[in-house]
Amino acid sequence: MVFKKSVKSILFAALSVNASYLSAQGPEEAAREVEKAIHLTPNIENGKKVFMICTVCHRPEGWASPDGMYPQIAGQQASVLIKQLADIRARNRDNPTMLPFTSPRLLGGAQEIADVAAYISKLPMSPNNSFGPGFDLELGERLYMEECSECHGKQGEGDKTDHIPLIQGQNYYYLIRQFDWIRSGKRRNADEKMVRQIQRFTPREELAVLDYVSRIRPAEEKLAQPGWLNPDFPNYARVPMPQIPQMQMPQMPMPPMPQMVR
Ligand code: HEC
Ligand code: HEC
Repeated sequence: MVFKKSVKSILFAALSVNASYLSAQGPEEAAREVEKAIHLTPNIENGKKVFMICTVCHRPEGWASPDGMYPQIAGQQASVLIKQLADIRARNRDNPTMLPFTSPRLLGGAQEIADVAAYISKLPMSPNNSFGPGFDLELGERLYMEECSECHGKQGEGDKTDHIPLIQGQNYYYLIRQFDWIRSGKRRNADEKMVRQIQRFTPREELAVLDYVSRIRPAEEKLAQPGWLNPDFPNYARVPMPQIPQMQMPQMPMPPMPQMVR
């Protein structure tokens, strides 16, 4: 169903979603949906069709923008993708930009969430994510090994059983935003232990550790070749991405509208 829709009609449908189409809310609802989706057998072909909705912002490669406005989601653990989707749509993680696109009418139910998560988790990751300035990497590495690797893994690869995100190779500015929102409690679905762990980080320590994380190179088999474009979306007209890093974005504007040429 979704496959036949153009990106323009997806945008239109999302903007016209009225409140009654939005899904049930709250952490319990999100947890129920995660439980259900995680135990379903994903249909990757259908995941590809559902992913059309996501390309509007995360682009067909799932790398989104180096300025960090949108995160890279390619290569993420499927269980993490499922949890974030369920949390965002149950409003257990605020994401006003993306919320309308997660309505059951557009995205579907637990099965479609499982399908699209499986598809995205298999996409190769960007070889060109954004980094930090690079002058404090020794401190960054030490802090990472002492304070983060126990949960996120030595290489920042995450852990599917506990929905711990892969963070290696993520865009630097996105990492900063999430770190700050997790620490301040603005990101309500954060891990309580992590929130406590990062309270005492100074600004220097925060930037050093996140710079280090952004530079952990994913394994070769997880990385895309330079110049790779997702062949599942052959006629997708890509608008150029902003290359200038921008830090905090309190109000996220709608992205420029890509045109589908079919
Ligand atoms: C209108 C733009 C938009 C669309 C469409 C969209 N997203 Fe997002 N998405 C965002 C933004 C913005 C964020 C980051 C919000 C933040 O900073 O917390 C995000 C975050 C996410 C995250 C959390 C990533 C992380 O590292 O925690 C996941 C997973 C995600 N999106 C998946 C999807 C999927 C799957 C779809 C399609 C069904 C989709 N998104 C459609 C804008 C969008
Ligand atoms: C006790 C385990 C634990 C520790 C220690 C921990 N984290 Fe996390 N972290 C998590 C979990 C679990 C999540 C996902 C929470 C959720 O479900 O949204 C997360 C989320 C994140 C995210 C958001 C990722 C995304 O894609 O949105 C970032 C960035 C992050 N952690 C960085 C760090 C850094 C850097 C450190 C060390 C300074 C650290 N974490 C320490 C468990 C931990």
